[in-house]
This record gives sequence, C-alpha cells and structure tokens, in this order.
Amino acid sequence: MPVSVLGLAGSCRIAGNTEMLLDWCLEAAHERGAEVRRFRLCDLDLHGCRGCGACSKDGVCVVKDGMQELYPHLWTADSIVLAAPVYSMGMPAVPKMMVDRCQPFWAWKHVLGRTVSTPDSRQRLGAHLCCAGTDLSDVFDCSRRVVRYLWHVLEVESAGEFLCSGTDEAGAVQRNPSAKEVARDIGRRLAEPRSLPG
Ligand SMILES: Cc1cc2nc3c(=O)[nH]c(=O)nc-3n(C[C@H](O)[C@H](O)[C@H](O)COP(=O)(O)O)c2cc1C
Repeated sequence: MPVSVLGLAGSCRIAGNTEMLLDWCLEAAHERGAEVRRFRLCDLDLHGCRGCGACSKDGVCVVKDGMQELYPHLWTADSIVLAAPVYSMGMPAVPKMMVDRCQPFWAWKHVLGRTVSTPDSRQRLGAHLCCAGTDLSDVFDCSRRVVRYLWHVLEVESAGEFLCSGTDEAGAVQRNPSAKEVARDIGRRLAEPRSLPG
C-alpha cells in the first residue's frame, strides 16, 4: 500500500506563499510514490469547537460540518503536512479552528485512554510549512506551539518544518532561493516508504 500524505492548505489566499510551499512538498511526495490528498481548509465549511464535551464519551464530534470530510483522513493518513501563514503573531482562525476540532483525538487519548494508532498503522509523520511577513525573532513561536500540540494529539512525529520569514506579498516565497528545495525535501521525507507492522 502506498504511503498516504494528507496536505492541509491553511491560507485562504489562493496561490499564496504557504500554498506554494505545500504544492512543492506534495509534488515531491507524489513523485516519491505517495498517495497525496490535499484540502483547502477555507473551502471546507468549518465551525469552531463548541466545547460541549460530547467527544469525551466516544471520541466523535457532534458538529456535522466540513470536518466530517477531514476526520477520516486525520485518523488514517500516514503523513500530514499543515501549511499556514502567521496572522496576528499566531495561526490564522481557519486552521486553528481545525486544530481545536481535533478535540475528539484528545478525548480519545486522554479521557478514553485509547490510541490513535492501530496495530496496522505505519509510523505517522508530520510537517509544518509557515510564512510570515516580518522577520521578528518570535514570529513563529505561537504557530509552532499549536502545531506541536496537534502532532501530539494526532500521534504524529515531526518530520520537519520550514519557517519562512520576510515573506509577505503573494509569490514572495519564490524569491527565497532554498524554499522550493526545502519544501520538496520535506515532501520526500513524508513519503518515505515505511513498512506496515507484521
Ligand atoms: C490578517 C493578517 C495578519 C497578519 N499578521 C502577521 C503577523 O502578525 N506577523 C507577520 O510577520 N506577518 C503577518 N501577516 C503576513 C502574512 O504572514 C504573510 O503575508 C504570508 O506570506 C501570507 O501567507 P499566504 O500567502 O500563504 O497567505 C499577516 C497577514 C494577514 C493577511
């Protein structure tokens, strides 16, 4: 079975900087033989977590919106790459909403005492691609913290990150001489064949 790579585009700006990074990454993963699936989070009908706690009973979210399309892939993808810019020194609302809606995974693990991985799972890998307009030394701190949390709840091991500062107008990432190769290298890592147990 080919390695499955789930790509999450977290910016609403079509063909913006993070979407370019994502596409370079996914293209390389595909060339390496991975089965690639890409979602633009802004195209899904996403709503915020209600904090209702219903997922603590069975690990299932009761909010029936675009997340229902995403959940199966979040449960089973061998690799996940999240591409999102910095907004207001953190993660933009749409991808953050998706992260908050991963509360069922948190409940599954920390309330119900279960694991996301199954005996059939491959090692799950994740990568974070991020752009920011400024060069502030702490500009990526909040986004990185959220992504680290996301990998924890999804039982994903970080396989890399690319944090591209000083990248503001759409397409600016193309002027970074190493961006494409770094993103492609991350894609190849995510697609790395790894055996299923047994
Ligand atoms: C609403 C908004 C808030 C932003 N806030 C920040 C910020 O706090 N710090 C920063 O360095 N860049 C900020 N930016 C700039 C974006 O991070 C930058 O333009 C990035 O390249 C956008 O990525 P995209 O093309 O994938 O959408 C902001 C942009 C927008 C639209």
